[in-house]
Amino acid sequence: MAKRIVTDLDVASKKVIVRVDFNVPHKGDVITDDNRIQAALPTINYLLEKGAKVILLSHLGKVNHKDPEKTEADKAKNNMAPVAVRLQELLPNNKVTFVDATRGEKLEAAVNEMKDGEVVLMQNTRYEKGESKNDPELGAYWASLGDLYVSDAFGSVHRAHASTVGIPSHLPSAVGFLIEKELKYLGQALDNPARPFVAVLGGAKVSDKIAVIENLLKIADKVIVGGGMAYTFYKAKGWNVGTSLLEEDKVEIAKEFMAKGGDKLVLPVDTVVANDFDNPTDVKTVNCNEIPDGYMGLDIGPKTVELFTSELAGAKTVFWNGPMGVFEKEEFAKGTIGVCKAIAALDDCMSVIGGGDSASAAKNLGYADKFTHISTGGGASLEYMEGKELPGIAIIEEK
Ligand code: 3PG
Repeated sequence: MAKRIVTDLDVASKKVIVRVDFNVPHKGDVITDDNRIQAALPTINYLLEKGAKVILLSHLGKVNHKDPEKTEADKAKNNMAPVAVRLQELLPNNKVTFVDATRGEKLEAAVNEMKDGEVVLMQNTRYEKGESKNDPELGAYWASLGDLYVSDAFGSVHRAHASTVGIPSHLPSAVGFLIEKELKYLGQALDNPARPFVAVLGGAKVSDKIAVIENLLKIADKVIVGGGMAYTFYKAKGWNVGTSLLEEDKVEIAKEFMAKGGDKLVLPVDTVVANDFDNPTDVKTVNCNEIPDGYMGLDIGPKTVELFTSELAGAKTVFWNGPMGVFEKEEFAKGTIGVCKAIAALDDCMSVIGGGDSASAAKNLGYADKFTHISTGGGASLEYMEGKELPGIAIIEEK
């Protein structure tokens, strides 16, 4: 069964609530990366061309609702107004109205005054305490503003919130083009990968990746593990890890993965270590079983880049999530760059980046267009690859 998509809905002159993920990186009023806004444009433009009234809802950042002082500070930091300005620039022929409210007269009046082909962008959904709790009253209220619901917020569909799950339980629903595209590529990797399928998993913590390692060990032909996670695996082998990142309570599961994975699980063979994180005055490359006391591993080494490159050679499907080291610092970025280049160079391969840091790395290195698909969802793409049902997609009606 396939989900209904936006083209299955009769949208002309209808008020269509579109949940987008405009959770964009920003410094004050300056949006530093508008990729997620751009990614929602195909659906928004389609609806506008069909004469719909488009009501956009999104969260931006996190809003603490426990401590009132923090609530106000978080709201000020995560005001949606600059996003509306950028959106209007991207939609020069359609009126975009920003409503600085998440409920009440101001919002209702703006929605009721909309003409076909116009956009209203509501203030950050997380200004409402009930959003993250999927408060049924809030979901019903937001649903009452529109006739139809389209989910195009792939980055948020792993959250069962009022705007992602509450609203569509009251309205006819469909997914937008972005979600359609995300499901196409991630779905193909998970359900029907061209082989060999190589998964490359990095990032700091094993605890964040347990479920995805587990699932991909079943599905992929190789699972390459790098980044901070690797040191917990070394510990499981009985090696010294110095002051490297270590999750003692995950050593047992790392042992299990190595036993289950056998040759399928590929770990780094050398690592770049430093005597200090903030002020590294002594940086060197050592074999993974020779990390000296007092040193911490901060990147994979050159022999590992070579090993991972040879494991990737000939791959027909690659899923990459997570950097290989502290790539924000130049001296520890070579591993991530090496892996990025190795994937980017593969011919005739469906390469998918699962959002987050690896997506930023590929973009910053100028390799973004060498990948088949860069997911807009970090957490969402990981949960998808874990094989989990994503609540914001499950709730959408089938065709
Ligand atoms: C993301 O950036 O991954 C999504 O927008 C979800 O944000 P969240 O983790 O704050 O729910």
